[in-house]
Amino acid sequence: MQIVAITGASSGIGEATARLLADRGDAVVLGARRTERLDELAADVRSRGGRAITCTTDVTRPDDLERLVARAVHEFGRLDVLVANAGIARLGPMSDLDADGWSAMIDVNLRGVLNGIAAALPVFRHQGRGHLVTTVSTSGLKIVPTQAVYAGTKNAVRTLLEGLRQESTDGVLRTTSVSPGYVRTELTGDPAGMPGFAIAPEAVARAIAFAIDQPHDVEIGEITIRPTAQG
Ligand SMILES: NC(=O)c1ccc[n+]([C@@H]2O[C@H](COP(=O)([O-])OP(=O)(O)OC[C@H]3O[C@@H](n4cnc5c(N)ncnc54)[C@H](OP(=O)(O)O)[C@@H]3O)[C@@H](O)[C@H]2O)c1
Repeated sequence: MQIVAITGASSGIGEATARLLADRGDAVVLGARRTERLDELAADVRSRGGRAITCTTDVTRPDDLERLVARAVHEFGRLDVLVANAGIARLGPMSDLDADGWSAMIDVNLRGVLNGIAAALPVFRHQGRGHLVTTVSTSGLKIVPTQAVYAGTKNAVRTLLEGLRQESTDGVLRTTSVSPGYVRTELTGDPAGMPGFAIAPEAVARAIAFAIDQPHDVEIGEITIRPTAQG
């Protein structure tokens, strides 16, 4: 049984991960901005006998991440895993010059993960162990038009985690970057924008569960999980 805090838990991959982990006995601490959705999810988990609490979290605010981590420690005594999953995709050609969208993606996808690291790392170090999981993307592995800035934020996070890994060879911290391909979620805000072959968010949840289930001396550093039909 692990204590797992998840950002972006109000929908998609974060929600599916929370449900899967809670169903098998982990305690989940749910963070996102849409509090009502988190409360509904937590109530649903508890009605199935699981353990879930919520904490309204905007990952662009360092204090919110501090509160999320503190909630886990206060309620359950420790934090084993932070799944820094919150993310947004403002896709479009760079020639659109959507500077607001670029900034928003940097704030949520990159600064949001840094804020999570800043909040969780001292707790992990104090405990002598911890696991940081992030949701990056295949968009950073195969660069395609309209996804340049989004992919840039995801690859920045990939780089962060590798750097953090290199600095953490004392065995305290595990890091995992999960790179999903197309997943059926609300990410693009337009279900029609998602190809028909997109996979279910539960598939990514299973990959995250696999990584956190390993013994602590085994680190699953990177997982790529995409539709079989994705190019
Ligand atoms: N779907 C895909 O094809 C795909 C592929 C590769 C990677 N990913 C990545 O997977 C992660 C999850 O996305 P998803 O596909 O599950 O999409 P989603 O259904 O739109 O979920 C995104 C989650 O992020 C949260 N979020 C957004 N801005 C936030 C903020 N400022 N503070 C806190 N939470 C915030 C949203 O909650 P609130 O709005 O309630 O805050 C929501 O729970 C993202 O990092 C995304 O980039 C997705």
